[in-house]
Amino acid sequence: MDQRIMQVNVFKFLTAPFRSFETDKKDSSMLDDTLSPSLFRKDNAFDDLYPEHIRALSPMHWTSVDIAKKAGEFLAMPDAKVLDIGSGVGKFCLVAGFFHPGTTFYGIEQRSELFTFAEMAREEIDLLNVSFIHGNLTELAFDDYDHFYFYNPFYENIEPDSRIDYAVKTSFELYDRYSRFVYEMLDKKPPETRLVTFHGADGQVPPGYRLVSNSYSRFLKMWIKE
Ligand SMILES: C[S@@+](CC[C@H](N)C(=O)[O-])C[C@H]1O[C@@H](n2cnc3c(N)ncnc32)[C@H](O)[C@@H]1O
Repeated sequence: MDQRIMQVNVFKFLTAPFRSFETDKKDSSMLDDTLSPSLFRKDNAFDDLYPEHIRALSPMHWTSVDIAKKAGEFLAMPDAKVLDIGSGVGKFCLVAGFFHPGTTFYGIEQRSELFTFAEMAREEIDLLNVSFIHGNLTELAFDDYDHFYFYNPFYENIEPDSRIDYAVKTSFELYDRYSRFVYEMLDKKPPETRLVTFHGADGQVPPGYRLVSNSYSRFLKMWIKE
């Protein structure tokens, strides 16, 4: 694990373009701390990969390191492709990908800014088994993916106070359309497909999926298709 971390190109880290955002300047000893495995233990350390305005969104919008580890353990099957539906700045994929190099993690994200920060963080951590796609999930070929992570991505369509920003349109109609799209996609998946929902509504999961774990005050649910 330390070896992987050592692979990080420190020069690239120091000079990466988004370091010029309003992040605090770091000397090299702070940099070593940030790049140690503690990066994957504490949210504060991990979120420090991102600029201030993205860090501020973390408690409400990005998966915590703890949850990402648990979800990753369940979804990471050997040689499988796991998709984060609405990947934001990539926190789930990056944490899960670090601990499960034998699985490939993909994230699709509609907001170009969030996609860009996910890509930059991936380059800094230097994970070869993580990829991000910029686009709307309705345009994705879901046949290419085996298992899925779903952190209530459509909620901002029905709860305006929870908006991430104003970069995309939100509406009740979009909430219904996206939810129906994901439901139908999951319904077509073969038996043994794994799904993790975090803060999801049970109605968004087709009945063919069996609930095998329900934790974190019933917010974190793990499902396997029968
Ligand atoms: C609650 S955040 C979760 C981010 C990430 N999965 C995580 O756990 O850290 C949901 C993300 O889904 C994205 N999203 C919502 N609808 C989408 C769509 N139709 N296509 C692609 N991304 C979408 C949002 O832009 C937002 O970044």
